[in-house]
Amino acid sequence: MAEYVIETEGLVKIYRDRSGEVKALDGVDIRVPKGVVFGLFGPNGSGKTTLISILVGLQLPTSGTARVLGFDCVRESVEIRKRLGLLPENYGFYEHMTAYENLEFLGRLDGISKNELKRRILEVLEMVGLSEWANAKVKGFSRGMTQRLALAQALLKDPLLLVLDEPTLGLDPQGTAMFRDLVERVVKSGKTVLISTHLLHEIGHICTHAALIRRGKLVAHGSLDELSKPYIEARGFLYEIAAPGEVERLLHEVKQLDGILEVSLVNEKVRVRAKRDIGGELARLAGRFRVRSLSFLPPSWDELYQYYQGGGWE
Ligand SMILES: Nc1ncnc2c1ncn2[C@@H]1O[C@H](COP(=O)(O)OP(=O)(O)O)[C@@H](O)[C@H]1O
Ligand SMILES: [Mg+2]
Repeated sequence: MAEYVIETEGLVKIYRDRSGEVKALDGVDIRVPKGVVFGLFGPNGSGKTTLISILVGLQLPTSGTARVLGFDCVRESVEIRKRLGLLPENYGFYEHMTAYENLEFLGRLDGISKNELKRRILEVLEMVGLSEWANAKVKGFSRGMTQRLALAQALLKDPLLLVLDEPTLGLDPQGTAMFRDLVERVVKSGKTVLISTHLLHEIGHICTHAALIRRGKLVAHGSLDELSKPYIEARGFLYEIAAPGEVERLLHEVKQLDGILEVSLVNEKVRVRAKRDIGGELARLAGRFRVRSLSFLPPSWDELYQYYQGGGWE
């Protein structure tokens, strides 16, 4: 098995039609380690769906290479699809068939045996919270229910790699929470999950690694820690201290430390931004006050996204 679950090199995709050419991917190199939740973050039209389509063998790259689970995406896509579950941007089910029948049909296409299939269908419907709707026709399903069924479809063959393209689009907060919980369960069982999204606040925080793309080019790639480092260097180290009743004295003392960029009060807590890591010094200072909590505030994906994408979404 390859070291990485997904590995691309110099991936280029050019769409050509009568009106001209679109370079959807412009030399993308990504590496997704095994067993992580990996985010593919970028604004609309940045190439996320194109990249996913190549990984699952629905599109051919114009140039470059891509390997998934050790198989080549062009020559061995059949092997990849046996082991990969995909939640596409839009899933079309047979509306006159029930949720159960749709999954049964898809499972047969995938060659899952009859007995095994029944057990799996009931299991995945339970996982996505659709058990009660197993025998209801898909025709009456809301967007959220269809999205849950699409996730059930992706989980059906118990895939080693789960690929979710904009999974929370059009979901209510409850549906979004269900997606997050499920992804965490899937990863705990040793699987890998790739999530594409431009809605970082909804699902971004469950990712431990990410590739940020813009106009088909990679602008950043790595683990949350790796990507945080340059940002923290630029923005400063942020801390928050809760010391009810001692705020004024604490503010005064903190301001005396070396390398302080900014000290402010946020929700009655002291917020400190410093040029360097002053965690140790703050902890010593805290010993002399009645401090309820002292924490380092790590950057969120949202902040990192703004930083690396250079601000602005479109
Ligand atoms: N089948 C296609 N034919 C022509 N252009 C396409 C096709 N699919 C996507 N594109 C173009 O490629 C670019 C990337 O699209 P896409 O991969 O769908 O981005 P994202 O999923 O990040 O929104 C866009 O400019 C889009 O218009
Ligand atoms: Mg897309």
